[in-house]
This record gives sequence, structure tokens and C-alpha cells, in this order.
Amino acid sequence: MRTQVGIIGAGPAGLLLSHLLHLRGISSVVLEKRSRDHVERRVRAGVLEHGTVDTLVQAGVGARLLREGLPHHGIELRYGAESHRIAFDQLLPGRSITVYGQQEVVKDLIAARLAAGGDIRFEVTDVALHALEDRPYLTFGGERLDCDVIAGCDGFHGVSRPAVPDGVLTTYERAYPFAWLGILARVPPSAEELIYARTDRGFALHSMRSPEVSRFYLQVPPDTSADDWPDERIWAELKARLETVPGFTLATGEIFDKGVTPMRGFVTEPMQYGRLYLAGDAAHIVPPTGAKGLNLAVADVRVLAEALDAFFATGSADLLDGYSRACLKRVWRAQHFSWWMTTLLHTFDTDDDYGRRLQVSHLDYVTASEAAATTLAENYVGLP
Ligand code: APR
Ligand code: PHB
Repeated sequence: MRTQVGIIGAGPAGLLLSHLLHLRGISSVVLEKRSRDHVERRVRAGVLEHGTVDTLVQAGVGARLLREGLPHHGIELRYGAESHRIAFDQLLPGRSITVYGQQEVVKDLIAARLAAGGDIRFEVTDVALHALEDRPYLTFGGERLDCDVIAGCDGFHGVSRPAVPDGVLTTYERAYPFAWLGILARVPPSAEELIYARTDRGFALHSMRSPEVSRFYLQVPPDTSADDWPDERIWAELKARLETVPGFTLATGEIFDKGVTPMRGFVTEPMQYGRLYLAGDAAHIVPPTGAKGLNLAVADVRVLAEALDAFFATGSADLLDGYSRACLKRVWRAQHFSWWMTTLLHTFDTDDDYGRRLQVSHLDYVTASEAAATTLAENYVGLP
């Protein structure tokens, strides 16, 4: 078998890349180790930056997103006994975010690829990368796929990054001493906007998926299992962390999904080796506090699709050679923003009264100063 671009991973990065290449007349095959059902049900974050929405709409895969996505023009920061709105619409006229589950993006992309005759192989085994320096090929389940280029879109635990010879990549990492417990509940949102809450019991986030379904997160110890969290315990803790302002009552309902997300920052430099290009979580991870993971994956493959277009159209590898450099600026901005939001809103084991007062002082500043609020807002909705 032969294709122009062999893509490993059918997450948002691999699927969108395959679609963007198809629009440019470039062939690809996507190899995914999990089932279609599994990738379509995997619950992840759900905040799309302005530019991410534009990319999906321009690529012709935004119809359902425009119909069902929930546009948001601000977020709420809750701490002490007060709520403060960061009003994107006033600070940055015309820019907003859209709440739309990542697995909905994945479903839309799979549907678009299959409708166009795209080649996605689910449940493939033993994917391995070979001859990355010049004539790359992939093997899987006893088959061989020759390619001009390989895109490693196989997430943090994939096989692409480890296929690069030792000593080529430098990795940068930050671990956090907590995780997030995320749930989906069949209950209408208790507020119109996302609420990021800092309390001495830990962080909590109120989000949503639809007028009938709410999404919540709790800061939890890193070694927690979802089994440690029966529904009553989750609701009690969410109430303790969110019902901190007068007049706010948290509506509760049936919890139908629970999962624990580790929190880490990770970047590999460069994001390429020979004819292998890494995109999305395969190259970098952010803690979910700024909701940047999916948006970074989309930004990477936008750059990669352009570079591949130039490469196949003209034979020039200039843009491909600059791929990593072009992506890493945005990647590091998102690393910093996610780290900053995380340190602003979570409790750390090492917190002392001095540290806590610094945190509150910073929150007071962000909510009182238009300059500071604009900094948060422009990073949150996404830099151009
Ligand atoms: N062979 C084939 N496929 C693999 C392999 C492998 N050895 N290892 C992993 N995969 C698949 C995974 O099953 C997954 O479907 O690669 C895909 C990677 O997809 P994601 O993890 O969704 O990563 P990405 O597409 O980069 O999207 C980034 O998704 O992880 C979230 O929060 C993250 O929002 C971010 C976004
Ligand atoms: C979500 O709705 O899943 C979500 C929202 C905001 C975040 C992270 C996740 O910062």
C-alpha cells in the first residue's frame, strides 16, 4: 500500500489533518488502534477558541457545531464569597469561544472523512514507524504502508515520539500535585457561563455540553480513582466549592460519565525528525485549566497541512522544515497560560498563608484591572 501522508491516530489532530489534506488533493491513510465507537465516545474538554471554530467552519465540518455549539461571551471567576465576570464581549469585541464537546468534533470529522471515501483503519495493531530519515513506511497488523511523510498524531502515549532516535528531542515537563475528576450529569447548567472557582478545599469548574447536560470538574489528589468518588460525594464537594456566593444553588442530577485527568505540562522540541512530524498531544500536553489541548492540536495541523501542500505542489520543504518553529511559539504561549490559570486557581500542598494571599491578590487584580482581564481574555479566546 502507498499513500502520501501516513497518519497515526484518529483523534482531532489526525482526523482534521486527513480532512485538510483531502481538501488540498493530498492522499492519506489514518491508522487508529482503538475502535470507532471508542474514539467517538471518549469524553474530553469542550472549549473551542474563535480560530478553531473558524478553521472547522472553513473546512466544511462546522455545520453541526454552528447549530448545536454554545457560544460564550465571558467566564466567571469565583473566589472568596464573590463572583466576577471576565467579559470577552466588552474586552475583545467580536471574539468569543464555543462550548462543543471534543468527541462531537471527532464524530463530525469521521463522518466527513468517510463520506468523502477517506481511509481510516480502526483497531489496527502493532503500528511501527520505519526509515524516518528518507523513505518512511509504517507497518501494522502484518501490512506495510509506504508514505512520503508520516504524521504522528497518536497522543501522549503513542508510538511516534518514541520512534525518534535517542538524543534528538529535548523534552520539557511540569508535573502538578493534583488531578481533575471530570463528570457529565443529566442536569441543566446552573449558570449560563463557565465558572472557575477557587476555594480552600480546592478548585472546581462548572461547564456544560447542552441545555440538558452539565460538565463539572473537581481538583482531586493525583492518585484518586473515579471509584473513590460515589455520586453523593461528588455533589457534596461540588456544592461546597461552588455554592459560595449568595443566591447560587447547584442543580444536581444523574451522573453518567466519570473520569480522572492527570495534570501536566509537556513539550518536545523540535516537533519533527526526518520525514516524521508530530502534532497535538504527541508533541505537547497542557493542564486543562485553560482548555487549550484541542485548540493547539488544531493549530498544529493547520500549519502542517499548509506546509505539506507547498511540499507536494512545489517540492519545496522550506515550510516543512520550519513546521516546528512555527508551532512552538503558540505552544509555549499556551503552556504559560495554562500554567498561570492552574496556579491561580488550585490549592497546592505547599500553600501557606502568604501563598494564599498572593493568589487572592492576583485574582483581585485580574478581576479589577481591565488590562489584566484583557490578558486573560485574549489568551482564553485564543491569540491569532
Ligand atoms: N497506534 C495507533 N493509534 C494510536 C496509537 C498507536 N500506537 N497510540 C495512540 N493512538 C491513538 C489514540 O487511540 C487516539 O485516538 O491516537 C489518538 C490520539 O488522539 P488524542 O489523544 O485525542 O490526541 P490529539 O488528536 O492530539 O488531540 C489533542 O485531545 O488528548 C486530547 O486533551 C487533548 O484536547 C486534546 C486533544
Ligand atoms: C469542559 O467543558 O470540558 C472544559 C471547560 C473549560 C476548561 C476545561 C474543560 O478549562
